[in-house]
Amino acid sequence: MNIILENQRSVSAANADTAVFARVIREAGVKNFLDMGTGTGYIAIYLAKHGIPVAACDLSAAAVDLARKNVRRNGVTVPVYQSDMFSNLKGTFESVGFNVPFSLGCKAFLPEGLKAALRRVSWINDYLVWHIPPAILAQRETMISRFLRESVPFLDKSGRIFLLLYRPEIEFVAREGSRFGFEFSPREAVELGPRNMVVAQLRRGTQ
Ligand SMILES: C[S@@+](CC[C@H](N)C(=O)[O-])C[C@H]1O[C@@H](n2cnc3c(N)ncnc32)[C@H](O)[C@@H]1O
Repeated sequence: MNIILENQRSVSAANADTAVFARVIREAGVKNFLDMGTGTGYIAIYLAKHGIPVAACDLSAAAVDLARKNVRRNGVTVPVYQSDMFSNLKGTFESVGFNVPFSLGCKAFLPEGLKAALRRVSWINDYLVWHIPPAILAQRETMISRFLRESVPFLDKSGRIFLLLYRPEIEFVAREGSRFGFEFSPREAVELGPRNMVVAQLRRGTQ
């Protein structure tokens, strides 16, 4: 699959995990899809190129601009919205996916430019994947919890959530998912190779 992507320093770059995540979502046979936190637009473009109806959104204005450009460049049709999670979205989706942000701390401590530079140093990334600081895990848990809670009204009755996670987060996601009526067993998580990453697929329960 040939996808032409422009990257920008201020937007989270699509990497090998993004590509595998997109493939796992396609292989799960999604009927339509919302790409939450689309970044460069890679996942949305990949699925649209496979004929799947897709929408995308991101909190960051820079990401929205870049994703729109990349969508046009690849000749697909994907509406891209600026939205804090679901706040600016309408309708329901059969599937929603989120590659949960790995935040290198609050803006007050690390300026955006420095964070973007650090993200591009591969050994720092490789180290952090295995030694995730507890403060970052806690921040991610807060975001995952909010995402699961807010997704419910935007999902079809038999809708699904796909999350790209670090392995230590699976148990939390299973517990938190069941609080919001999702079914997911940690045994079902799909391993993404040697990078300590997994994909969790949560289904809305039947109750
Ligand atoms: C890890 S990046 C994933 C980018 C892309 N989906 C990929 O897999 O390459 C997370 C993205 O989520 C976006 N994001 C962070 N907080 C968000 C929020 N509250 N609502 C929507 N998007 C958000 C970030 O701007 C970033 O583009």
